[in-house]
Amino acid sequence: MKLFLDTANISEIKEVKDLGILDGVTTNPSLIAKEKRDFKKTVAEICEIVCGPVSAEVIALDWENMVKEGRELAEISEHIVVKVPFTKDGLKATSILAGEGIPVNVTLIFSANQALLACKAGAAYISPFAGRLDDIGHDGIDVVSQCQQLVETYGFETEVIAASIRSTAHMFQLQEVGVDIATIPYSVVTQMMKHPLTDIGIEKFLKDWESAVK
Ligand code: E4P
Repeated sequence: MKLFLDTANISEIKEVKDLGILDGVTTNPSLIAKEKRDFKKTVAEICEIVCGPVSAEVIALDWENMVKEGRELAEISEHIVVKVPFTKDGLKATSILAGEGIPVNVTLIFSANQALLACKAGAAYISPFAGRLDDIGHDGIDVVSQCQQLVETYGFETEVIAASIRSTAHMFQLQEVGVDIATIPYSVVTQMMKHPLTDIGIEKFLKDWESAVK
């Protein structure tokens, strides 16, 4: 499973990169707004740090402007993946950008049917949102699993990014699904590292060591 960081925060990205576990970054307009910095400058800085795909989302909702914004974003760096919301216009923009060799991440996917259409339009990545489905009483990981299954059944080259990941429980479930990629917030990365038995184990080793060398 590849691990992407779901953030536009430079220090979080640097810290996780230095751990040697970072395969890419996803941003969205909400995450960029949180940083209160210039959009393109922020994305360019992220691309300099990360040796992998960096998703940057278009704001336009009509396909002509989605394509225009997508082309401009792709100019920033070879790492850029243009993020496009799943709509009819989004599908058309995906097919045009993909036809030009620009990788597209189709976002805001909430069903396997949407995923199928995005794959057919040429998406390099599809992002089903697990947490937001859970929020409305659906099984988000089940939809991620259906997306992964359809990609494998029909042999699409698209990679599935499990998005809207909220907890370590999600991460255990995603390992069972065998999802291609999980994009996770910094808080989930830190939670994944923690186990009380590791802390207790270190404490005991040190205590035993100290008593033996006395
Ligand atoms: C990533 O591509 C998504 O934009 C992100 O995971 C959404 O997460 P949220 O539902 O926690 O906002």
